[in-house]
Amino acid sequence: MKIKTVEIDGPAALAPMAGVTDAAFRKLCREQGAAYTVTEMVSARALEYNDRKTGELADLTHDEGPVFLQLFGDDPAVVGRAAKKLLKYSPAGFDINMGCPVPKIVNGGAGSALLKDPKRCAQMVAAVKENTLLPVTVKLRKGWDDSHIAAVEVAGLCAESGADAICVHGRTRAQLYEGQADWEIIKAVKKAVNVPVIGNGDVKTPSDASRMLEMTGCDLIMVGRAALGNPWIFHQINAYLTESCRILPPPGIAQRIVMIRRHMEDLCALKGEYRGMREARKHVGWYLHGVRGAAEFRRRAGELSTLEDLDRLLGEVYQKNEETEKSN
Ligand SMILES: Cc1cc2nc3c(=O)[nH]c(=O)nc-3n(C[C@H](O)[C@H](O)[C@H](O)COP(=O)(O)O)c2cc1C
Repeated sequence: MKIKTVEIDGPAALAPMAGVTDAAFRKLCREQGAAYTVTEMVSARALEYNDRKTGELADLTHDEGPVFLQLFGDDPAVVGRAAKKLLKYSPAGFDINMGCPVPKIVNGGAGSALLKDPKRCAQMVAAVKENTLLPVTVKLRKGWDDSHIAAVEVAGLCAESGADAICVHGRTRAQLYEGQADWEIIKAVKKAVNVPVIGNGDVKTPSDASRMLEMTGCDLIMVGRAALGNPWIFHQINAYLTESCRILPPPGIAQRIVMIRRHMEDLCALKGEYRGMREARKHVGWYLHGVRGAAEFRRRAGELSTLEDLDRLLGEVYQKNEETEKSN
């Protein structure tokens, strides 16, 4: 399938996650079969001031395959100008954040606060479209809260304004990440628009992916939290969907360790060892979920400062878990 002119090769995309979906993680997910990836959200307002961090977030030189650059902002004109500025990074397209629930963002009128003003959402799409011929997608939530369900209306207006695909996370802003995602709203949006719809929320396993596609009729799915410390999820989903429900075994300990080492090495190469290893702490904790001795190893992951520390830790993880694997 295509999102406007961009060929999308596979059923499952990597969701944008601030503090997670940087170039190092996007690369691994793409290698594992993510159909496309989305950057961490970039502030359109900060770009007006040539913010250095924003330039780093938008750097796509290490990516292979389609990457959508996600923008957030409250003012359509500012977001439009930001897209124009970011064209030099050659993204596959732009995604507009209409779902972020964080107070700092919504208090500034951006993220899911936009859902309270559907016309503004449409203006946002139009403003970005005025500045680029690349595909423009939006990522929205079900609504602000249960009394203000807006996804169908917002999706319809955005599509009329030229949005090339709509991603729906089936939770309201009030739910944050709690409760269950409502897949019925994804189905309702799919019925209401004639651009591709990407379903999102609570896809944790390959069979969830299959159920979401079937139940909602959405064109693609997007995986967020299930990919944390688990880039293999894309390979597993692809195998399940394309090879008659084939269930791949979880990665063995050696495979996990090789992935962790590569990921953290790339992180340090991108951000320097000091910052890279501080960011590595959470990733390593996620990767070690469920290994033998996880509680103690994860505690130690929280103290990593150098790649040397990491190698020492991974050596011990390997030793402790290799024996278990052999005896099984
Ligand atoms: C740590 C974290 C950071 C996130 N950052 C963003 C973001 O920058 N932009 C965005 O649109 N959504 C963001 N999200 C929301 C996810 O993209 C996704 O919509 C949500 O997690 C639901 O999908 P899931 O159930 O597969 O995790 C974030 C989620 C998490 C857990």
